[in-house]
Amino acid sequence: MYPSHRPRRLRRNPALRRLVSETSVEPRHLVLPMFVREGIDEPLPIASMPGVVQHTRDSLRKAAVDAVSAGVGGLMLFGVPAEHDAEGSGAVDPDGILNVALRDLHSELGDDTVLMADLCLDEFTDHGHCGVLDEDGNVDNDRTLQIYGEMAVVQAQSGAHVVGPSGMMDGQVGVIRDSLDATGFADTSILAYSAKYASAFFGPFREAVDSQLKGDRNTYQQDPANGREALREADLDLAEGADMVMVKPAMSYLDVLRDIAGVADVPVAAYQVSGEYSMIEAAAANGWLDRQRTVLESLTSIRRAGADIVLTYWAAEAAQWLRSTR
Ligand code: PBG
Repeated sequence: MYPSHRPRRLRRNPALRRLVSETSVEPRHLVLPMFVREGIDEPLPIASMPGVVQHTRDSLRKAAVDAVSAGVGGLMLFGVPAEHDAEGSGAVDPDGILNVALRDLHSELGDDTVLMADLCLDEFTDHGHCGVLDEDGNVDNDRTLQIYGEMAVVQAQSGAHVVGPSGMMDGQVGVIRDSLDATGFADTSILAYSAKYASAFFGPFREAVDSQLKGDRNTYQQDPANGREALREADLDLAEGADMVMVKPAMSYLDVLRDIAGVADVPVAAYQVSGEYSMIEAAAANGWLDRQRTVLESLTSIRRAGADIVLTYWAAEAAQWLRSTR
């Protein structure tokens, strides 16, 4: 009788499919990125990311509590300051919006919720670059490192359990590790954005953080054409003391994620970025995609490619779905 090999046998009914399913997405795998904006009284919708807002300090606390009760694995906080300057000084000011909001969340949630902070200058600089500039207008790697070192300490003092350097400066993980160790924060972890690409998929994020950037980040973020250097970046970050490494964006870089997951001996994260979110939301709003199925399939594919942890703007909602379907 032909065919003798029948893979469909294991797909016959839900019970068999459940038994042989390889990949799961659980609420604890999901981290919710959140935006908090200085000087607003009401949450401000982000037009290019339907359903995502810039929070007030108050609405942030409430949304964070809701996400935590849905079971998310952690929160990643981004600050949007009222004022920007060339040095991004709001980033190292203990009273800067990101640091104040970290204190708010830490006092609300304590140490039972993993609190992560974006460690980068682009939200705070008036030129919108991830580092400070030299006289010729180029991003000055080594002077930026000093500021990152300070920023890490202020974030740890404000209650961050994990700092997430996302600026793609060479040596950033090592400097941050030294600076945390030297100030009594040896237990603060580093989630290194190791393979971060100069991606068009960050488009909606620029509105989310009121980015001042003109130009591009091609001198520090990776060329989307390159896979090998992602492995080198991850190796360097591990050698410098990264506790976890991340690939970003996720869906167009699942090959890179797979490669890094194959060699890293630490947990691997992937960031499903703003553009990935907005694409699916837009198609779903038009009735072109089934929203919930598409979101869950996208998260499953990122997990299948090798991510232990997924940063996603759907974290809280997806966590709720996953709890109710168990
Ligand atoms: C830099 C940073 C960016 C994102 C996270 N951290 C923007 C960039 O590098 O241009 C993008 C996140 C997203 O698009 O969802 N601080």
